[in-house]
Amino acid sequence: MITDKNIPNKVRIRVEKKSNNDAINKGLEKSKIDSHPILGNSPINHFSEKPILEAVGLSKIYKVGKQLVSPVKDISLQIGYGDFVIIFGPSGAGKSTLVNILMGIESPDVGEVFLKDESLYKYGSEERAKIRLKRFGIVTQIPYFLDQLSILDNVALPLLLDGESKKNATIKARKLLKSVKMGKFEKFKPRELSGGQQQKVAIARAIVNDPWLIFADEPTLNLDAESVDEVINILLDANKNSGRTIIMVTHNLEFLKYSKKWFFVKDGRLWDAEDSKNPFHNIKEVVGYVKEGLE
Ligand SMILES: Nc1ncnc2c1ncn2[C@@H]1O[C@H](COP(=O)(O)OP(=O)(O)O)[C@@H](O)[C@H]1O
Ligand SMILES: [Mg+2]
Repeated sequence: MITDKNIPNKVRIRVEKKSNNDAINKGLEKSKIDSHPILGNSPINHFSEKPILEAVGLSKIYKVGKQLVSPVKDISLQIGYGDFVIIFGPSGAGKSTLVNILMGIESPDVGEVFLKDESLYKYGSEERAKIRLKRFGIVTQIPYFLDQLSILDNVALPLLLDGESKKNATIKARKLLKSVKMGKFEKFKPRELSGGQQQKVAIARAIVNDPWLIFADEPTLNLDAESVDEVINILLDANKNSGRTIIMVTHNLEFLKYSKKWFFVKDGRLWDAEDSKNPFHNIKEVVGYVKEGLE
């Protein structure tokens, strides 16, 4: 049960500050962006031992009819620079709800998310959208594009929205499209591509703004086996060779082999694979548990 007593101190601070949202939004004039703790130009320390993203005591409750559903229950986690983190769990476990909270899309009822030590939810929704645009790359199950634009322009879009010149945005987008082996399709419209090709373009778009974090929620769900491998390899390469921090959500047991850093979500609770108190601290036990649940 969530009571005032078990709200961590960091979270209390956020609850008290919440009423300041308007003041914070008004402080978003251009002149102040440079010194903004998240949107500003201060260099990011990739060697920092502090987590880039930290969640403390997150809970979310929905009312469905007369019933209360709680897909996220008192979840805390830390994600470090350069991590490749897998959030694994069966369908309906609460993975997407959790990741939507981590991305600043859906505010938690209790708890707080800290991005580079800054409370994410002290900012209003518009400012969080700017933070997503500039600092996060997001890959969804089914990629969404602006259908009337070419692939190249779709990939360049996050940069254009962030004020980059058309010329520079196009140069960067082209480079990224080439890196995911989609260069020769740059003039195509999104609908002219297969699902796997679209997902590769979506990853290029997620990387183009040089984000602090890439979130991929079931990025391979609708793909054929060959495209699954390609997409996973692109993500692994972005992590290993470019040092990108990636959070991948999946319900596919096969993917656990790609990272030792994984969390298991079940009934809204989160278990850290590295935590010895975790009843599911090795893959075998998780496999056993999940299979049992399926039988
Ligand atoms: N906006 C919402 N309103 C009501 N219930 C929701 C909402 N979003 C998610 N849920 C419920 O929360 C549970 C977890 O959903 P979700 O986070 O999408 O799981 P997963 O991504 O692991 O499949 C499900 O039972 C779902 O019906
Ligand atoms: Mg989901």
